[in-house]
Amino acid sequence: MEFDKVVRERRSIRRYKKDDLPDSEILSLIELASHAPSSGDQQMWHFIIIKNQEIREKMSRLVSQKIDSLARQVNEKFQSDPKKIVMWFSRAPVVIAVSTFKYRTVLDNMLFKAGYSEYEVDSLRCRPDLQSIGAAIQNLLLAAHSRGYGGCWLTGPLVARPELEELLGVKPPRSLAALVALGWSDYISPPRNIRPIEEITSFIK
Ligand SMILES: Cc1cc2nc3c(=O)[nH]c(=O)nc-3n(C[C@H](O)[C@H](O)[C@H](O)COP(=O)(O)O)c2cc1C
Repeated sequence: MEFDKVVRERRSIRRYKKDDLPDSEILSLIELASHAPSSGDQQMWHFIIIKNQEIREKMSRLVSQKIDSLARQVNEKFQSDPKKIVMWFSRAPVVIAVSTFKYRTVLDNMLFKAGYSEYEVDSLRCRPDLQSIGAAIQNLLLAAHSRGYGGCWLTGPLVARPELEELLGVKPPRSLAALVALGWSDYISPPRNIRPIEEITSFIK
């Protein structure tokens, strides 16, 4: 598929056919993801490919329990059901958990030595590791779309991040950054409204 078409037509897919995705195909998509740019060329991504249905259901239960516990604390009715935004992921035939680690450069260390807190350093530097992970995930989703698969990037389930990390064996210094659901798309998503170019750009000439 032509590159512009791949970029324009990719959509988040949240319903999948039951069919399995061959491991070789998943690995090939991740290989393409791994060509993304990364801060300091650290390539700090790691991809856990979860095909096991029991584990996917356990993940879903952990997220559901966390949302229930939050709802009890907040004790307020929200317009849309927060579970709807996230709970569908366990029905995807493949869920990829993407983890990262914080890469500290000489600039970060200068800031630390100058007395900045970890929170302040992260606010100033805008988490280059997470930006790198985002680039890799976008590569993965575009590659998936160009081969006829559907996928969706998820961060909603990370409300239960510590619980998911324990289940999946993600240990410090690594932390979970996102999930990607993947499968054979069960539908075609219509084009969405894209903000006009003049609204999202400005020149300084
Ligand atoms: C960082 C990030 C987090 C997202 N988290 C979720 C999520 O938790 N659940 C979900 O259903 N979609 C999630 N999405 C998908 C967005 O809702 C989707 O990209 C957006 O609505 C635009 O639609 P499109 O991807 O079909 O073009 C996420 C996307 C990004 C980039």
